[in-house]
Amino acid sequence: MDRIDIDISNYDIIFVGAHIWNFSMSLPMKAFLKNNNFQNKTLIPFFTYSGVATKNRIIEEIEELTNTNDIKKAYVYF
Ligand SMILES: Cc1cc2nc3c(=O)[nH]c(=O)nc-3n(C[C@H](O)[C@H](O)[C@H](O)COP(=O)(O)O)c2cc1C
Repeated sequence: MDRIDIDISNYDIIFVGAHIWNFSMSLPMKAFLKNNNFQNKTLIPFFTYSGVATKNRIIEEIEELTNTNDIKKAYVYF
C-alpha cells in the first residue's frame, strides 16, 4: 500500500474523510492514520457509505490507529 505523504505538523485540527469499505475505513485512510503522528491533534471524521456500517466501530478503528482520543463529530456524519 502506498504511503500518503502529507506533512500534518502545521495543523491542529484535521478532517478525516473516507469511504467505508467492508464495514471499515478505506485502506488508504487507514494507512494515512497509521503512518502519521496525531498526538495533540483534533480529528473530525466523516464518511461516505451506502448504509451498512457502525459509527462506534469506525471510531474505535481511528483510536486504534492513532494516538489521539480527541475525536470530534463532523458536520457530515452517520
Ligand atoms: C469494495 C467496496 C466495499 C464497500 N463496503 C461498504 C460497507 O461495508 N458498508 C457501506 O455502507 N458501504 C460500503 N461500500 C459503499 C461505499 O462506501 C460507497 O460507494 C461510497 O462511500 C460512496 O462513494 P462513491 O460515490 O465514490 O462510490 C463499499 C464500496 C466498495 C467499492
